[in-house]
Amino acid sequence: MEGKSIVSVDQFTPDDLSHIFSVAQEMRQAVNERGSIDLLKGKILANLFYEPSTRTSSSFMAAMQRLGGSVIPITEVKYSSVSKGETLVDTIRTLNSYSDCIALRHPQAGSAALAASISRKPVINAGDGIGEHPTQALLDLFTIVEELGLQSDSFDLRDMNVVLLGDLLYGRTVHSLSKLLSLYGVTVHLVSPKTLRLPQEICDVLTSRGCRLFVHENLEGPLSTCDVLYATRVQKERFDDEKMYESVKDSYVITPETMSRAKKNMVLMHPFPRVNEISFDVDSDPRAAYFRQMENGMYIRMALLAMVMGK
Ligand code: NCD
Repeated sequence: MEGKSIVSVDQFTPDDLSHIFSVAQEMRQAVNERGSIDLLKGKILANLFYEPSTRTSSSFMAAMQRLGGSVIPITEVKYSSVSKGETLVDTIRTLNSYSDCIALRHPQAGSAALAASISRKPVINAGDGIGEHPTQALLDLFTIVEELGLQSDSFDLRDMNVVLLGDLLYGRTVHSLSKLLSLYGVTVHLVSPKTLRLPQEICDVLTSRGCRLFVHENLEGPLSTCDVLYATRVQKERFDDEKMYESVKDSYVITPETMSRAKKNMVLMHPFPRVNEISFDVDSDPRAAYFRQMENGMYIRMALLAMVMGK
């Protein structure tokens, strides 16, 4: 992966994923034992975020710093030349002069591919509008493998039922995760309001890979048999019509009562931020994996940064 950009999950094979996951496990061990290492000493990451972020931006920064490198944080683009009308292309070319890698979050789908096509340094897509969020999907799959107690280098997910719940239309995390899951013959249950279904072109990719897909409007059907329940926030910022958002925002709320009807070893995940999708009294349930999931994000991003910067 040296020198390569990470734009879409489509670029990964199951072998690549196993490799990334074993490097992430080594990173976790290194952090637990030593706090930080000097693998990327002297290297600089530009963290260029045109949209709000807490976990993705801070875990990229923490990952780079724990690898001994440093970060140019541009998380408030309004204080940069972007607010003077600078184009993405000029900003990327500028950051190429100062940094060794760029993590980019941008409101437009396709922006990461555009940036990667002109950048002399690796660009890592940290979310491109309603497009993809590949590093999130990697940490999500890594979390699934770990929570289910599987071997990161040889896992079989063929008997698994995964429910993707919430805003499947605008949620870029599910766009990327569903495509990764389809590499493993997982059965995927899509649960959303009618107006927020997974885009047809992504459904087509999944079915063309032999993935069994079921579409639901209620969680009741797949709840008792699912192995992984992946909840998402309704993406308010993507709606033109506030009323439309209001009508769907609280479609699904997971409570202890919901959890009582799920498998004893089910894994409950959420990319966060949560708005109202999971009630706080679910947090103490051992099946609630979302805080471990966000921690895994740092180890996955450490692995990716080390790999694209050639270590
Ligand atoms: C997600 C995102 O930005 O797409 N957040 C994240 O990166 N963890 C999900 C969301 O904003 O709902």
